[in-house]
Amino acid sequence: MVAMRKRTRGENTRAVQLPEPPVPAQRPSAPPVYRTSSFAFASAAEHADLVHEGGGYLYGRVDNPTCDAFADAVAALEGVAVEGVRAQAFASGMAAVSAVLLAFTRSGSHVVAPRALYGGVYEVLAGLMSRFGVTADFVDFTDPARVRAALRPTTRLVWAEALSTPAMEVADLPALAAVAHGGGALFAVDSTVATPVLCRPLEYGADLVVHSATKYLGGHGDAVGGVVAGRADLVGELRRVRVATGAVLGPDDAFLLRRGLETLPLRVRRQCDTASQFAAALARHPAVAAVDYPGLPEHPGHTLARRLFDRGPEGTRFGALVTVTPHGGREAGIALCDALRLARPATSFGGTRTTVAHLGTTALTGRDDALLAGGGVAPAAVRFSIGLEDAEDLIRDAAEALDTLPVVDHSGSATAGAGRLSEEAVSG
Ligand SMILES: Cc1ncc(COP(=O)(O)O)c(C=O)c1O
Repeated sequence: MVAMRKRTRGENTRAVQLPEPPVPAQRPSAPPVYRTSSFAFASAAEHADLVHEGGGYLYGRVDNPTCDAFADAVAALEGVAVEGVRAQAFASGMAAVSAVLLAFTRSGSHVVAPRALYGGVYEVLAGLMSRFGVTADFVDFTDPARVRAALRPTTRLVWAEALSTPAMEVADLPALAAVAHGGGALFAVDSTVATPVLCRPLEYGADLVVHSATKYLGGHGDAVGGVVAGRADLVGELRRVRVATGAVLGPDDAFLLRRGLETLPLRVRRQCDTASQFAAALARHPAVAAVDYPGLPEHPGHTLARRLFDRGPEGTRFGALVTVTPHGGREAGIALCDALRLARPATSFGGTRTTVAHLGTTALTGRDDALLAGGGVAPAAVRFSIGLEDAEDLIRDAAEALDTLPVVDHSGSATAGAGRLSEEAVSG
C-alpha cells in the first residue's frame, strides 16, 4: 500500500499557526496570566457582535481577564461591608489618580485636596489639570471646617488621603465625606498607605477609593499598578477613561499584584506591629528629634486613628511608615540613611524589605527648608517603610546608625561622638 502524503504548509506558516492550546474544563487554582493583546473569534460576525455589544474579551487595552481578576479581588477587599462595589485596574497609581480627575472634572471644575498631599497627585492637579481649566485648593485636612470653607459651587471633587505620607496625617473620613457630599462633590480617598487592612474608606462614605497597588497591595516591590474601587456607575466612567487613554495594567503585573493580595493582611499586620515597636524604640534615642507615627499616643492623629482604623483582637494598627527626624539639618538625615546597613535607600514603600528615603532630597526634592516645614516635614526627616525583617534587627540597625551621628547640644553646635545607645534602644 502506498502511504498518502499529507499536504504540508510552509515552515513559517507552521511555526506561527501552532495548534491551539487546550482550554481546560477544570478551573485553574491560580489565575492564568492572559499574556495576549487580543482575542480571536470563530467568525467575522462574532467579532463584530462583541465590538458592538460588549460582554466578552476583545483587545488588551480594553479588558484582560488577569487584570479583571486583580480588580475584582480589590473590589471584594474594599467592599466587605458595602454592596455593589466594583473596581478598575490601571497601569500605575498615578494612572488611577489621573483617571479619577479626568472622569469627574470638567473645564471650570474645582477640586479641594490636602496641603499634605502626595507630590505626584499635586503635580497632576496643579501642573497639568490647571491647563484644562480645573482649579484646586490645597488646605489643612486635619480640620474638616477648613475643607468646608474651601468648597465652591464648582467643587466637583474632594480628594483625601486616609493616612498620608510623609506628613502621616489621619483623615477624618466620615466628617470629610459629609463635607464633600454637603457641597455636592464626590469624595475620593487615596488609601495607599492605610490599605484595606487598616480601614475601608467606602464604609465611611467615600465614593471612590484609590490605591497605588505598587505599594502594599502588591507588597513585594516587583510590580507597578493602580486600582480604583467604588460604585458601579462611577467605576464605569473610570473604565471609559482607561480604555480611551490606554492606561492599562499589564497582565504580568496584574498577576503579581493579585497574588500579593493573598498575603496582604498577614504582611501589613506584621509590618504595622514592627513599625509600632520601631517607632517607640527610636523615640527614646538621644540623636532623634522627632518620630512621626500615628501609633504614638502623642501623635496628633492618634485618637482619630483609634476611632477609624480596624480594632483587631490585638488592638488598633497604625500603618507601617515611620518618619524619623534626627537632630541637625538635611545632612543629619542623609548621614542616617547612609549609616544604615539593613534598610536601603529606595523610592517607593510597602515592600517586604525595609527601605528609607531622606524626604527633603527625594520625595520632596526641590522644596527649601521653609516649604518643607510648611508641609509638616523637617529638613532632616527620613521615612522608614518597615518591611518583614525581625523588629529587633531593624531597631538595632537604626539605633546603630543614629549612634554614628554627631551629638547636637541645645546651643545647636555639634560634637563628634555617638550616643552609643543602640543596646538600650533594642531592648526597649
Ligand atoms: C499616596 C500615593 N498615592 C499615589 C501614588 C502613585 O502611585 P504609582 O507610583 O504607583 O503611580 C503614590 C506613589 O508613591 C503614593 O505614595
